[in-house]
Amino acid sequence: MSGKAIIEIKDLVKIYKGSDEPAINGISLDIFEGEIFGLLGPNGAGKTTTISILCGLFNATRGKASIDGMDIHSNRDKIKHIIGVVPQDVALYPTLTAWENLTFFGNMYGLRGAKLRQKIAEGFAVFGLEKHADKKIANCSGGIKRRINLIAGLLHDPKVIFLDEPTVGIDVQSRVVILDYLKELNKTGTTVIYTSHYMEEAEKLCTRVAIIDRGRVVSMGNPRELVAEHPEFKDLENIFLHFTGKDLRD
Ligand SMILES: Nc1ncnc2c1ncn2[C@@H]1O[C@H](COP(=O)(O)OP(=O)(O)OP(=O)(O)O)[C@@H](O)[C@H]1O
Ligand SMILES: [Mg+2]
Repeated sequence: MSGKAIIEIKDLVKIYKGSDEPAINGISLDIFEGEIFGLLGPNGAGKTTTISILCGLFNATRGKASIDGMDIHSNRDKIKHIIGVVPQDVALYPTLTAWENLTFFGNMYGLRGAKLRQKIAEGFAVFGLEKHADKKIANCSGGIKRRINLIAGLLHDPKVIFLDEPTVGIDVQSRVVILDYLKELNKTGTTVIYTSHYMEEAEKLCTRVAIIDRGRVVSMGNPRELVAEHPEFKDLENIFLHFTGKDLRD
């Protein structure tokens, strides 16, 4: 894969306060415009930490990163307008309805009035949520919350979208709808960065993956090419196990 690097990460390190082990320990990688890039790794590998730094949630301890040519530390506000974030833990207000939540998130991105209503309605239609618009989030199922969480991150048509385990804990139907939607979005030029524990899904979906373990990139490439390079492992799951080992993580 080549082209314009829309995300450049150089020697990124994060040591959380009070911790002596780095959560990420020198991650360097480029993500190109138009990719669906998978960040894969066992529990605690550093996927969420990496995404959180790129999205400006907190600073790295060392290292540099840029999005669309803008340094993530010095251009935080500009970057916010071109990225969308779908966090690992559903980030919605339980006492507000689905529609109210999306209105709130739309307002945060500066969207208002008819344009916002249209974007929310489009999202509800794509994800089959029309009849849940006026339901309080607290009364929605996990799969519905995930779909609403996803719409919230996409309302402002971001150029780059980060999704942290968007398909965890949902049924096959919801997963297919979400993955098909991400593919469609990607066809219109959106760069997608997503984390997952589902190797088969990542193998089908991603233009490239980075396998990270204990805060370091241990393998990277196009999933089909990785499998072709290691025919003895047959599929991405076995390659993942080869590079990350079989011991359990925290
Ligand atoms: N706020 C925090 N303070 C201290 N340590 C943290 C904090 N957040 C994460 N960590 C630690 O940093 C490491 C990387 O965590 P991170 O959440 O980035 O992993 P992950 O790859 O997203 O894992 P998972 O697949 O379980 O979501 C882990 O050892 C974790 O315990
Ligand atoms: Mg995580």
